Amino acid sequence: MDFFQYQDKQLFAEQMRVADIVKQHGTPCYIYSRKTLERHYHAFTDAAKGHPHLVCYAVKANSNIAVLNVLARLGAGFDIVSKGELARVIEAGGDTDKVVFSGVAKTADEIAFALQHNIKCFNVESTPELKRISEVATDMGVPARVSIRVNPDIDAKTHPYISTGLKENKFGIDIKQAFEVYQLAYALPSIDVVGVDFHIGSQLTEVDPFLAALDKVIALIEQLKSAGIELQHLDIGGGLGVPYDSEKPPHPSAYAAQVKARLTQYPHLELVFEPGRAIAANAGILVTKVEYLKRSQDKHFAIVDAGMNDMLRPSLYQAWQSIIAVNPRDDDTPIHAYDVVGPVCETGDFLGKNRLLAIQEGDLLAQRSAGAYGFTMSSNYNSRPRVAELMVDGDTCYVIRQRESLSSLWQGEHLLP
Ligand code: LLP
Repeated sequence: MDFFQYQDKQLFAEQMRVADIVKQHGTPCYIYSRKTLERHYHAFTDAAKGHPHLVCYAVKANSNIAVLNVLARLGAGFDIVSKGELARVIEAGGDTDKVVFSGVAKTADEIAFALQHNIKCFNVESTPELKRISEVATDMGVPARVSIRVNPDIDAKTHPYISTGLKENKFGIDIKQAFEVYQLAYALPSIDVVGVDFHIGSQLTEVDPFLAALDKVIALIEQLKSAGIELQHLDIGGGLGVPYDSEKPPHPSAYAAQVKARLTQYPHLELVFEPGRAIAANAGILVTKVEYLKRSQDKHFAIVDAGMNDMLRPSLYQAWQSIIAVNPRDDDTPIHAYDVVGPVCETGDFLGKNRLLAIQEGDLLAQRSAGAYGFTMSSNYNSRPRVAELMVDGDTCYVIRQRESLSSLWQGEHLLP
């Protein structure tokens, strides 16, 4: 559930009219709801109750420092994939000792930065990476805590671009080789083996693939135990889906209950979650204005002021996200099936296709479920300044990232003498 609801046929973000917010801040803009972020975070912590746990929000989903700060205040940990994301967590007041560092290409500089900030652990994705972490930690004279990210070869049944747990994917270490890698980790200097980790993909709508992966990982935990390698935590990654359309992903409580049921033998094994989308997606909308209505022989186009540079998901993954009128009309405006397209010079620039809408030029539309992988995947393509990000907290709206100015477009660029 989120806090973007209609009241008297007007869309509200918590207690604020979206149309009023736009009057002040313009379009396009992302609007987030603090209460929704908090509710979704608590869905995970409540679900995990009764078992030691840590919810490490996946920063890549939405990395605005205000978003990170709202979660940090609740005690969240963070899943990061770059030095930049760690720097954001620090800037937002997050605890670095609750940070797990995922990603296949950690540079020596990034490893050193993370060690300097004493992160909880590195989720190691290859043997060369493990050796590099050992070298950097030895040079710095500090221990590096590591968890091996195993690739369990499970089909997550999601879009191929966001599936990560198949053996043909670049992520993690083949679970069949994991035992050997743990033995190597144990033997390497400055390495402290603390956990095991898997993440099989994103926007998962069934629990079964998680459980199939979990069973394989529990077998590994047992094998390690009999060899004297005792782990402190089990990180089951992120990936829980959200209802963009008619999907019915499991609620965090149902998902966690099934996971916990498999861990009764391990009451001290800390359970780590890395949710991104499930926390942020439905905590945000992208608001855009209809610039033109255009009719070709057999198509109705609604040309809006937000494009694929602002929201890439539909173009990149053919992702479907709901598009609704901010103030639905009750006059005699005809309903048509519109392709809602942006200003970018690409045929693939659309927010949605075949959407039944009754709209006029100047109307406002909201694309829902835009809080995750929306702004973070945006760009300046076509020299379009990136849009404002706003956060509503009750009856107050805060600018958490100002709209970029024209001159910011060429900031850092230089003419030849
Ligand atoms: N942990 C790891 C190691 C990950 O790679 C990811 C996402 C997450 C956690 C968080 O997954 P989530 O709970 O958000 O599903 N841009 C794509 C999604 C890419 C996800 C990449 N990894 C999209 O817009 O659908």
